[in-house]
Amino acid sequence: MATLESTRASAPGKFILFGEHAVVYGEPALAAPLQSLRARARVSRAAAETPIGLFLTADEISLRTHYANLKPTHPLAAIVRGTLQAVGSSGAPRAHLQVSSNIPIAAGLGSSAATAAAVAQALARFLQHELSPERLSELVFEVEKLQHGTPSGIDNTVIAHEQPVFFSKGASTEVLKLARPLSFVLADSGQRSSTRDAVVRVRQRYNSRRSAYQSSFTEMGNIARAARTALARGDSSRLGELMCRNHARLQEIGVSCPPLDRLVEAAIRAGAPGAKLSGAGLGGHIIAHVHRGDGDRVGSALAAAGARSVIMTELTPSANAA
Ligand code: PMV
Repeated sequence: MATLESTRASAPGKFILFGEHAVVYGEPALAAPLQSLRARARVSRAAAETPIGLFLTADEISLRTHYANLKPTHPLAAIVRGTLQAVGSSGAPRAHLQVSSNIPIAAGLGSSAATAAAVAQALARFLQHELSPERLSELVFEVEKLQHGTPSGIDNTVIAHEQPVFFSKGASTEVLKLARPLSFVLADSGQRSSTRDAVVRVRQRYNSRRSAYQSSFTEMGNIARAARTALARGDSSRLGELMCRNHARLQEIGVSCPPLDRLVEAAIRAGAPGAKLSGAGLGGHIIAHVHRGDGDRVGSALAAAGARSVIMTELTPSANAA
């Protein structure tokens, strides 16, 4: 198959604003891309003297190996295989695939989905194909299933579309409408957590206390729907109140932990209209909504309360909003 000399692609991290975990049980959730953090991939034609096949390097995970040496279940092997199939290539090209990312791993910011998306698009381009956001999302979803067991599909959707979304499993995804730009601060608890473990833990508890968990999920779905309206109206105080209510429901289902609760409380004390954990929980990040111009002050309060790092981000009205 004809290839180009060298191709690149990148994909953003993401944060979940509302509805994590409940989304696995069919409720809606809201998520947005985090453009300041990205995974990048570059594919370049290998020199004639290098052995046949695809050589991979990923410095952040100290990986330097041939594609053929990776276990089939390795996420990079899975996304390469899926992409080759998607573009109708009979085998891996003779090339060098370099992967890099500044998205923290196991921190609820979508590092695995972003890496897979960047690799898929760079490799498809190398083979002279361009993957649509829908196709890209499907390919990444297959890898997410290998890694996380029963993912809802929200990470691959927001990362492939690079738009803030209102997402429900099995329904068409809406691009979120926003009345005005809104500011947020993400703070890292410093505690790493596994999405798979958190999802399994919730599933076990759900199986033993079905009606209590079902009502928490239903309530989280109602909160997510109300948040969509609050965003469309630009209603900061309502949005903040809904974030706090969502955090309380996440505590109820056992995915918060003292470091996350401390950061949520610190953000509220510093004047944030609302805050909650973001992502799978049991570590990772919290997200606080902040009034414009308050980001630095709330960020400092979060650092003083133990945050390892803080990230400022903004949701801005999109031209593509439905
Ligand atoms: O990838 P994380 O850690 O942001 O968590 C994903 C959100 C969950 O709802 C917990 C799982 C899922 O597949 O939606």
